[in-house]
Amino acid sequence: MNANVNKVVGYLRWGIAGSLLLAAWGLSLTGMSRASDNYNRGVANSSGVSSPAAMAYREECGACHIAYPPGLLPEASWRSIMTTLDDHFGENAELSEGPVAMITAYLSENAGNPGRGMLKRMAGEAPLRITELPYFIRKHDEVPERLVSGNPEVGSFSNCNVCHQRAERGEFDEDTVRIPGYGRWDD
Ligand code: HEC
Ligand code: HEC
Repeated sequence: MNANVNKVVGYLRWGIAGSLLLAAWGLSLTGMSRASDNYNRGVANSSGVSSPAAMAYREECGACHIAYPPGLLPEASWRSIMTTLDDHFGENAELSEGPVAMITAYLSENAGNPGRGMLKRMAGEAPLRITELPYFIRKHDEVPERLVSGNPEVGSFSNCNVCHQRAERGEFDEDTVRIPGYGRWDD
């Protein structure tokens, strides 16, 4: 098989596993109220989760860090990120055209609303990092650097999932935070 066929087979395999997972997850979500839906657009959306584009996003963009919930950045940010993958925060994260188009469309469709919520007062801006959003900085300003860059198990704020155990699902409530070497966060 050539590499492309392999990839398609790979996506199919993920699609099937994903649908099963989704069915189980969907059941566990019914009746549960979800406070953090706004961070989670596209991930919570059941048709989004198992679509080939969502799978491609998770596979390609979840290899070095979590596949960040698309709602955390506005569309303009995702578009800049997707057009500069050859120089991605010092790494080469280049992909071929097909996946780029698919993932860009997926991210654009599920991007956050500029000017609202976490992206308040950011209309017209296209930050490349979630960790540079004023909202992000404000929410984390009580977390000392020694627990982040000074903590070998964390390293950087970009590793959301190390502290937020349900980050990939877009859940960031304080009660799901556990910092390695520190424990639960109470403030
Ligand atoms: C080869 C590894 C690699 C791949 C693949 C990769 N990234 Fe990254 N990404 C990085 C590194 C390294 C950083 C910087 C992390 C840090 O500063 O600690 C980063 C940071 C980011 C950030 C900013 C996080 C923050 O600090 O707020 C976003 C957004 C992002 N990547 C999106 C993507 C998307 C979208 C894809 C898929 C097209 C992708 N990444 C694929 C390595 C990768
Ligand atoms: C070193 C651990 C750590 C890392 C890494 C981290 N956070 Fe947090 N985060 C916290 C703590 C602690 C709080 C709670 C702060 C408070 O309110 O006192 C928090 C709060 C938040 C909140 C606000 C939750 C609420 O209900 O108000 C959001 C949203 C959030 N983080 C998103 C992220 C995202 C996105 C990333 C990755 C880009 C990330 N965090 C990385 C520790 C971390």
